[in-house]
Amino acid sequence: MLKVGLIGCGFMGGMHAACFNAIENAQIVAVADVRCEKAEKIAKGKDIRIFSTGMELIENADVDVIDICLPTYLHTEHAVAAMKKVKNVFIEKPVCMSTEEGELLLKTEKETGAKVQVGQVIRLWDEYVWLKTQADKKVFGEIKSASFRRLSPKPDWSWDGWLHDVERSGSMALDLHIHDIDFMRYLMGEPESFTSKEARNSDGAIEHIFTTFTYPNSTVTVEGCWSYPADFPFTADFIVEFEKATIVNNANGLYVYSIDGGCEKIEPASSFESDNKTDGNISSLGGYYNELKYFVDKVSAGEVPTVAPLSEGIKSVELVLSEISSVGGAKK
Ligand SMILES: NC(=O)c1ccc[n+]([C@@H]2O[C@H](COP(=O)([O-])OP(=O)(O)OC[C@H]3O[C@@H](n4cnc5c(N)ncnc54)[C@H](O)[C@@H]3O)[C@@H](O)[C@H]2O)c1
Repeated sequence: MLKVGLIGCGFMGGMHAACFNAIENAQIVAVADVRCEKAEKIAKGKDIRIFSTGMELIENADVDVIDICLPTYLHTEHAVAAMKKVKNVFIEKPVCMSTEEGELLLKTEKETGAKVQVGQVIRLWDEYVWLKTQADKKVFGEIKSASFRRLSPKPDWSWDGWLHDVERSGSMALDLHIHDIDFMRYLMGEPESFTSKEARNSDGAIEHIFTTFTYPNSTVTVEGCWSYPADFPFTADFIVEFEKATIVNNANGLYVYSIDGGCEKIEPASSFESDNKTDGNISSLGGYYNELKYFVDKVSAGEVPTVAPLSEGIKSVELVLSEISSVGGAKK
C-alpha cells in the first residue's frame, strides 16, 4: 500500500482524492492546503494528517508518494523539494512555466533518481489511448491530417484567481491548450514548423489560440479556448484523417469512417478497471483515474512510469511557450 501525500486540495486535488479512493494499492495519508477547509474536506472521517502548506507536508509527512496539485507557478519549487525528500512524485500539468524551471526539474530528477510522472492526462484518456494504439499499429495507414480542439467557458474556480494571472498560470495556452499539444507530440512527434493566431481578453491575455503545425506528410490544427459563455458545454474533440479511414471523437462518441464506406462506433476498452470493489464506478473520473492508477502500479513495482515522463511534460511546455512567444507573449 503506497502512502500518498496530496498537496493542493482545490479543483484538481479533489479529483485526485476521488481517484485515490478508488485505487486499492494507494491511500492518502497526508494532505496540505493553505485553505484548511479544503484539506479538511478531503481528510474528513479518514486517518489523514493535515498540513497548512505543501512544504510542511514534504518536510514532515511519512509518505511514499507526493502528488502536487498546486497552482502552476508553485510546481517547480515543490517538485524539487519533493524529489529530494520522497523520490516518487506526480506533478500536475503544465509541469512548469519556463525553460529554466524545466532544466532545474530535469537536473533534480537525474540527481535524485526520483520517479516522476506529469499529469498530461490525455495520454491516458481511453479514446486517445485507442487512437494512439491504432496509429502506432498503422491499422488505418499513415496520418494525413488532424484537428484537435479544447473549448471551454471561462474557468471560475481557481484559488485567489491565479488561473487568470498570466504570471502565475502562463495563460490559457499553457494551462488548457497544452493538453492537445502534448497529445499531438505523443501521437506524431515533433512538428517541423507552426503558425499561431490568438485572441485576447481586454487585459491583453491570450484566451483563444489557433495553431497549424506542419509535419513532413501531414498538417495538424490545434485550437484551445476558455473565453466562451458560462453555459457553453466543455468541448474536447478530434478528427484524424488516416489513409484508410477518418476517426472522429466528440460528444456523440468515437467513430471510424472507412474510405470503403460505412461508419463504426467504437467503445474503447477502459485502460484500467477499478480495483476498489466498494467504489466501482470510475467512469466519472475519466483519464484521471487511469493516470494515477498507472503511476501507483509503476511505483509499487519499483518501475519508472514512462507514458508521461518529466522530460515529455517539459517538451510540451516548451512548444507552447514557443507558440506564445510567436504571437507576442501571453499578455500584450
Ligand atoms: N489535468 C487536468 O485536466 C487539470 C485540470 C485542472 C487543473 N489542472 C492543473 O492542476 C493544478 C491545480 O489547479 P486547480 O484547478 O486545482 O487549482 P485550484 O486553485 O482549484 O487549487 C489549488 C489549491 O492549492 C492551494 N494552495 C495554494 N498555495 C498552496 C501552498 N503553498 N501549499 C498548499 N496548498 C496551496 C489553494 O488553496 C488551492 O486549494 C494546476 O497546475 C492546473 O493547471 C489540471
